[in-house]
Amino acid sequence: MIKQLLAAVFGVALVVALIVAVFTLNQVRDEREDLTVDLEYRSALLAERLHVGLAPSFVTPTSTTPEVLQALVENLSQQERLEGLVVYDNKDNLLAKSSTLTDNLEAQSELARTAMDKDQAASAFLRFQEKQTYVLALPIRQNARVVGAMVILRNAEHIEAKLDMIWRDNIFRLLLQVLIFSAAIGLIFWFVFYKPVVNLAESVRQVRAGKRTPEQQPEKTPFLFRPLIAEFYKIMRSLSQARFSAQEEARLRLEKIDTPWTAERLREFVKDLLKGREIFVVSNREPYIHTRDGGALRYFVPASGLVTAMQPVMDATGGMWIAHGSGDADREVADKQDKVAVPPDEPKYTLKRIWLTEEEENGYYYGYANEGLWPLCHLAHTRPTFRKEDWEQYRKVNGKFAASILAEIKQIENPLILIHDYHFALLPRLIKNSRPDAQIGIFWHIPWPNAEAFSICPQRKDLLDGLLGADIIGFQTQAHCNNFIDTVSKELESLIDLEQFSITREGHKSYIKPFPISIAFAGTEDAGEEISPAERRQFLSSLGIESQYIGLGVDRLDYIKGIGERLRAVEEFLENNPKYIKNFTFIQIAPPSRDQIPRFREFGEEIKSEVERINKKFGANGWRPIVLLNRHHTHEELKIFYSVANVCLVTSLHDGMNLVAKEFISTRSDEQGVLILSQFAGASRELKEALIVNPYHVEAVGDMIKTALTMNPSEQKKRMKRLRNQIKTNNVYRWSAELLKAIVSLGS
Ligand code: G6P
Repeated sequence: MIKQLLAAVFGVALVVALIVAVFTLNQVRDEREDLTVDLEYRSALLAERLHVGLAPSFVTPTSTTPEVLQALVENLSQQERLEGLVVYDNKDNLLAKSSTLTDNLEAQSELARTAMDKDQAASAFLRFQEKQTYVLALPIRQNARVVGAMVILRNAEHIEAKLDMIWRDNIFRLLLQVLIFSAAIGLIFWFVFYKPVVNLAESVRQVRAGKRTPEQQPEKTPFLFRPLIAEFYKIMRSLSQARFSAQEEARLRLEKIDTPWTAERLREFVKDLLKGREIFVVSNREPYIHTRDGGALRYFVPASGLVTAMQPVMDATGGMWIAHGSGDADREVADKQDKVAVPPDEPKYTLKRIWLTEEEENGYYYGYANEGLWPLCHLAHTRPTFRKEDWEQYRKVNGKFAASILAEIKQIENPLILIHDYHFALLPRLIKNSRPDAQIGIFWHIPWPNAEAFSICPQRKDLLDGLLGADIIGFQTQAHCNNFIDTVSKELESLIDLEQFSITREGHKSYIKPFPISIAFAGTEDAGEEISPAERRQFLSSLGIESQYIGLGVDRLDYIKGIGERLRAVEEFLENNPKYIKNFTFIQIAPPSRDQIPRFREFGEEIKSEVERINKKFGANGWRPIVLLNRHHTHEELKIFYSVANVCLVTSLHDGMNLVAKEFISTRSDEQGVLILSQFAGASRELKEALIVNPYHVEAVGDMIKTALTMNPSEQKKRMKRLRNQIKTNNVYRWSAELLKAIVSLGS
């Protein structure tokens, strides 16, 4: 370090010295020129004056004796403070000279001769009597004839003195500059380079020694080092994750204890289970969506339980996720094979994007999946629409995904494929037909209706046959599994084993199993804000809410969610309990969803006018019973709503699971708050300590709101504790582990 610093200082000093030397040489040259010109000019003027004094002596030489001329020369020399004055005649004879001149005057007489020969002034700088002297010789004329010459000698010592002074000054300045530059370089070196490097080295040392985590990157990092330090911290995080994984692996192997499932434990479990095999995940929604936001390229992770569930698995196995590329900048970041390494900051697996035309998306996604299968499977009294064209697109897109997967698994023996949801009912069969050795699981995230309800679907046999290409067909609840078996038994030729819960068709056996999906809650990491009463008041008043009691609903604007019935239950509650008027506010968060579909749009309008009607009925002096928030809220934003609610209402008319119910519970680390939960949501099978309701029974739900608001804190605590334990034990990591274990174990 010191060597580099010295080299830098020396380099700078050299450059500065060179600049100063060139500059000084120039200055000296200019100054010498100026002083010389000045001396010459003044000497010429003087010479003119002397000429006037001396010339008459040559006019009447007879009258001018050598003594008179000598006296005149002496006199003029003293008057003008000359170093000396010499007069010659035109035969080079010295006529007179000032008495101060002792040295030999050879050079002067030489100059006088030149002046006379050329009939013009001649000058030179000479060292004379140990002094720098300026010597000027002038011809003396009479009637335009050169009759003699005079030579004047002037002291020129001041020129050298002045030039010496310039050198001295500039050398002093040079030293000062070198000193200042060296100090500046030293300081910059110290604070901009040396200190940050030392600090960085120290923080790496501390992380290595296990004294701190690499999670927090220092805030005050010098601008210059930011990219480097950010990379450094990423490496440190990876190292520390690797170390943590190794420790965790060792711990799990040694202890074999049933601690809650974590992302880490899942990762270890999957590694052990798959032994290097890669996994292929298929879903409609992709885990990373790239967009252009005012020119800047960004990406986001969609709020989806499925993504939370599969992310740690993909991290551990490093496989491939195949999904519809729906972001407006998705193509920009994908390579020629439509692939992109994700997570974008620290790639661990491959996302392969499938591009869909507008026609395909309309038919397959909006049409068949969401206007056909969605209302078919959710018994919420919206009639499904099965259009021939939509079905064609649904088949086509399933075929497109199948072709893409088959190309990817060409070289892989026993590939492991996990398909998600109702968008891909035909996919298991399409893959199995080409690759009987593939191990295929499909998880149906939404309910499976009873056989009679399903029988209205014109394409039901194709859908069932498609699904039965899978080795495992997973549902949220046992009831959905039962419905599925029942449906198959009524629709297809097959062998059903109710002991194993399997269906054999054309020699291939599929197992039907429940896997209730969950959230990431594993203890403290998902805990909500510990919010003080003052903070609660402040947050609510920022929304214009002054009420003491808060009810909350969080749903996509979807007709299956029972939002209308819920609003009427709030109306009923206020009608029957007027003392809650102005003391209770119900907040409904309802971001738009699939609003290209008319029924979804109409539903949004219905909810808005219902809110307006009820607010008009009870609203007074700025208080409104219902606050409707139509925009999308992030997970972080939702946490605070969950934390301030006295009661959370999940009153779906029909729902596969409903993760809002679980999110609300996981946020309530204060063990307060009450969950009112629909008996028709899959979550009601697990969350027994919630207040279970029939969402269609509006009066009963209204009464339940009162029960919730008057429930004493110790009862709330008792229930919330049990609910939290339930989710902690059955979190999404466990869900992934169980599902993968079931698929993999079929092959062994
Ligand atoms: C709900 C369902 C999921 C489904 C998702 C699709 O959350 O429960 O099973 O995958 O909707 O939502 P999207 O916005 O992608 O249509």
